[in-house]
Amino acid sequence: DWKMDSFVEATISEIREKVGDGKVLCALSGGVDSSVAAVLLSKAVGKQLTCVFVDHGLLRKDEGDEVEAVFGPAGSYDLNFIRVNAQQRFYHKLAGVTEPEAKRKIIGEEFIRVFEEEAKKIGAVDYLVQGTIYPDVIESGLGESSVIKSHHNVGGLPDYVDFKEIIEPLRMLFKDEVRQAGLELGIPEYLVFRQPFPGPGLGVRIIGEVTAEKVKIVQDADAIYREEIAAAGLDREINQYFAALTNMQSVGVMGDFRTYDYAVALRAVTTSDFMTAEAAKLPWEVLEKIASRIGNEVDHVNRVFYDLTGKPPGTIEFE
Ligand code: XMP
Repeated sequence: DWKMDSFVEATISEIREKVGDGKVLCALSGGVDSSVAAVLLSKAVGKQLTCVFVDHGLLRKDEGDEVEAVFGPAGSYDLNFIRVNAQQRFYHKLAGVTEPEAKRKIIGEEFIRVFEEEAKKIGAVDYLVQGTIYPDVIESGLGESSVIKSHHNVGGLPDYVDFKEIIEPLRMLFKDEVRQAGLELGIPEYLVFRQPFPGPGLGVRIIGEVTAEKVKIVQDADAIYREEIAAAGLDREINQYFAALTNMQSVGVMGDFRTYDYAVALRAVTTSDFMTAEAAKLPWEVLEKIASRIGNEVDHVNRVFYDLTGKPPGTIEFE
């Protein structure tokens, strides 16, 4: 794509010129926006960039390792990639907490704390990279076109890291353009076309208290769900789909034994803007296969529900 081609080239040289020999820090989540932003920066300033990836233990199955495989030392980019394994810290903070907003707040604050600690180890940086895209810019009422904004002009900046300016290389791009830029930069398709995944991760897909055991259950169920949706060729047709863990336990039977285990909820929606959504009309055979595999393969699950709720009255996530 010639247009993206020239966007990538122009952005790299603009960043190079402005950053000079400055030090750059990026929070990398593995989501498409932060991944594309990080790779652009690395192409522009190489070793001056450090990327911090916080594994909060609320990622999808194997996701932390996948992100590390692509962006870490064994991958094909040179990002000074730092993975922080903060799983236990997050589980510890979340122990006993059931209220959705309280959970979100704890996860957000702990994320900041972990990132801040890493930033301190790196020392003063000149630039912080943000994967802000055009719709975010419009939403916050900011319309300037430069990829580098001074600290004071941008709302909602993290002030917990000591830096001078912010770099937002994607601030003029729509989501589909970000994906094109990602492909242009050689980022693997499965990352480029990833579905949206909320910052608090599985924390908002486990209703009630989050524990390591529940994380494992929802990860395993979700992995089976995604595998079967992909196998059925539906992965690009449904805008967002995932497994969640209800807070309900009920009686079931396994062989000669009575079980008292969790119920998994499957969510799949079609939507144009994520403000409203409809439950996807998944083929019954596909749902049947998923339910049977989850029941057979995932420990501590004895029921599977398909969520028929639209948004409204539901939200897409569960918390
Ligand atoms: P809801 O659940 O509000 O979700 O219908 C709408 C879209 O937003 C995503 N979402 C989030 N994304 N941080 C994010 O980056 C969050 O805290 C968050 N909460 C919800 C959700 O996955 C869906 O695509």
